[in-house]
Amino acid sequence: RARHDDSRAPLYAALEAADQWYRTQLAQQPQAIDYLKQRGLDGETAKRFGLGYAPAGWSGLLTALSAHHPREHLEQAGLLARKNDSVYDRFRDRIMFPIRDSRGRTIGFGGRVLGDGTPKYLNSSETALFHKGRELYGLFEARQSRAPLDTILIVEGYMDVIGLAQSGIVNAVATLGTATTREHLQRLFRVVDRLVFCFDGDRAGRQAAWRALEHALPVMTDGREAAFLFLPDGEDPDSFIRRHGKEAFAQRQQHATALSRFLLDELSQRHTGNSMEARAALLKEAGMPLRELDPGALKNQIIDAIALETRMSPERVTQALRRASTPAT
Ligand code: UTP
Ligand code: MN
Ligand code: MN
Ligand code: MN
Ligand code: MN
Repeated sequence: RARHDDSRAPLYAALEAADQWYRTQLAQQPQAIDYLKQRGLDGETAKRFGLGYAPAGWSGLLTALSAHHPREHLEQAGLLARKNDSVYDRFRDRIMFPIRDSRGRTIGFGGRVLGDGTPKYLNSSETALFHKGRELYGLFEARQSRAPLDTILIVEGYMDVIGLAQSGIVNAVATLGTATTREHLQRLFRVVDRLVFCFDGDRAGRQAAWRALEHALPVMTDGREAAFLFLPDGEDPDSFIRRHGKEAFAQRQQHATALSRFLLDELSQRHTGNSMEARAALLKEAGMPLRELDPGALKNQIIDAIALETRMSPERVTQALRRASTPAT
């Protein structure tokens, strides 16, 4: 244990030094400050999220930090890239978003180009400290806020978390360019009992919501809630709140679709018609996700609702679900 921590300490130190250095660079780069202003952020929000700037050039960070941090540590911390025998700064000419762990230590970065370059966002690679499937951007900052958390919003991107915070909605977190994993959800349900997923209102958004539902069902014990907030096509939480304001966002949140409702709506939309075949197909599709749901009041209600929809008795539905979820032999 002690040895384990010893090998990590220099990586945390390197990341902390980089964090500070990027912030110093931001203060000296009017163009980067203008970019953030033009996106509606004020200094307080930038400070709250520790935003910084990685200058253009191949070795600014390397040169500045290598006096106190050996190259290998900078490299293991994910701050450098390597091509053959040469190492150079991984992040160049980007707005920097430090990603913090639950204790507030920086474990990685996201970096956004100022203009239209690609990739738009570059994230730290996986390191000993940074695991995308586990970390949630903004969770530390959300827990830092004074108001007690009862709900956490799950959004797609860095700027969604920050744009919402700028408008006073400080309970949003984002996954880091990956789908939401069961591990993410377990982690969040240790903090709050209610999660609200924000998705685009388009087809891709509904598909992402279905995948989120599949990951959420196994962790949905009674007492926990999950809901889905759909935004108009083409908008993300950041653009929505900038265009329509906090009240409009809050209203959407109030009318978020409960997980059970979304499950039932999707199933009946996928299997329309009153034929016995359509009902059987619906039951079959319900089987897999519902198998994952803990037995309890929520599951019973969903089964009752499916029974209504398919005009079968709840007992029959339970029986059919059991069959649908048993792998064929
Ligand atoms: P979006 O493309 O929706 O970006 O990607 P955004 O957050 O709205 O960005 P802005 O508003 O143009 O600045 C959502 C998230 O997907 C990941 C990032 O985590 C981003 O925040 N992503 C996106 C990447 O990792 N790489 C990319 O090239 C693009
Ligand atoms: Mn993820
Ligand atoms: Mn979309
Ligand atoms: Mn955006
Ligand atoms: Mn977006």
